[in-house]
Amino acid sequence: MSSPETNATAQIGVTGLAVMGSNIARNFAHHGYTVALHNRSVSKTDALLDAHGSEGKFVRSETIPEFLAALEKPRRVLIMVKAGDPTDAVIDELADAMEEGDIIIDGGNSLYTDTIRREKAIRERGLHFVGAGISGGEEGALNGPSIMPGGPAESYKSLGPLLEEISAHVDGVPCCTHIGPDGSGHFVKMVHNGIEYSDMQLIGEAYQLLRDGLGKTAPEIAEIFGEWNKGDLDSYLIEITSEVLKQVDAKTGKPLVDVILDEAEQKGTGRWTVKSALDLGVPVTGIAEAVFARALSGSVTQRKATTGLASGSLGAKPTDAEKFTDDVSKALYASKIVAYAQGFNQIQAGSKEYDWNITPGDMATIWRGGCIIRAKFLNRIKEAFDDEPELATLIVAPYFREAIEAAIDSWRRVVVTATELGIPIPGFSSALSYYDALRTERLPAALTQGLRDFFGAHTYGRIDEEPSKKFHTQWSGDRSESPV
Ligand code: 6PG
Repeated sequence: MSSPETNATAQIGVTGLAVMGSNIARNFAHHGYTVALHNRSVSKTDALLDAHGSEGKFVRSETIPEFLAALEKPRRVLIMVKAGDPTDAVIDELADAMEEGDIIIDGGNSLYTDTIRREKAIRERGLHFVGAGISGGEEGALNGPSIMPGGPAESYKSLGPLLEEISAHVDGVPCCTHIGPDGSGHFVKMVHNGIEYSDMQLIGEAYQLLRDGLGKTAPEIAEIFGEWNKGDLDSYLIEITSEVLKQVDAKTGKPLVDVILDEAEQKGTGRWTVKSALDLGVPVTGIAEAVFARALSGSVTQRKATTGLASGSLGAKPTDAEKFTDDVSKALYASKIVAYAQGFNQIQAGSKEYDWNITPGDMATIWRGGCIIRAKFLNRIKEAFDDEPELATLIVAPYFREAIEAAIDSWRRVVVTATELGIPIPGFSSALSYYDALRTERLPAALTQGLRDFFGAHTYGRIDEEPSKKFHTQWSGDRSESPV
């Protein structure tokens, strides 16, 4: 880079100026930073400058060398392009032109294993690579997202203050902190999205229970969600559920939700969460059910082929609508606790596997504002981890233990009623089964072990021996047992 230093006026550069990139760039500018702008096609840069150029100090650039020349050293470049190959292409182009100590930040929804790979490659070239999960959608990007940066602690010293400043703040605390090395930020963002899937599935089930179990209309259910948002369930997703359910379709005059095609799509972060959980051996049943529920909704062929299949004799609809509604809200809350408990267990497992040293309570802190899963009860999650950093599962923390105790009868009633009415509730019921399974002293796993030993000599441990000692029964011989 041979451009004159006098041109280097920008503290941060943003490349990739689709809506998220543009809004983050504007957010930096609103906080007084000079922002260098770059986009593969210059028309996007100019469109941003035309519409919002007066909001702050921007430096226009057409080429990567021009873009980099506009940046103070060490250069900080935020990439906001599509995850996958486009991200690799931009990283390569930047890295070729950058200098030792410069920082490349990937703010997209990248797969954390890609981030691990990229961080290593960039580090070997003397540059810093930060994989930053950014949540909050377009609105959050503009007015304060939750930011989950992972990468070298050293780069956080220079980058952290900027990111913290543009992030959302709750009680004066920024919704941004250094997560840990290499892929940790994107890993945590991935789990955030997994929890987002689970949360949305549970909300969907609650809506369907009120719609099909009580015959309530979308505007009536919007009211109920509005009420729920004043209590324990207070959260962004509950709030916007009420908004979506209220919306009337201009074309038909019907509730919009009744004319939207009933097939949930996905870009893949939920699926990644489940794949990672399978590898880590963490039972994130709520997230898995949510991913599969989306897939099932899109299984058009199967859904068409099975229309009219027998339901068996269905039970009567609840007669006490108020009581049932209250039960559903409690079942939703308890299931949501399970979803977060599972997500936090995955973060703990990932942190251990990759040596990231993530502080789970910090995740609860930075998810309190800005992000899609922001919710009142994240304060409680933070408190739980502050009290007990090595917490085995959230559901044993005193606050959550009591919350579930207060909800458990309602939760069981909802699962029973839904089953009797033939209403599918994979999220609610799997969460309850998970809870029941955890608290059950003897599961049928011992039988599974016996069967594995029978057909494959896979051995088993004994309750009266060290767990590391293995035994095998001579199933096809005299059925005597021997240590292995
Ligand atoms: C966020 C969101 C964001 C995006 C999801 C949507 O935190 O701001 O999670 O990242 O909206 O990726 O994911 P699906 O398209 O897979 O539902």
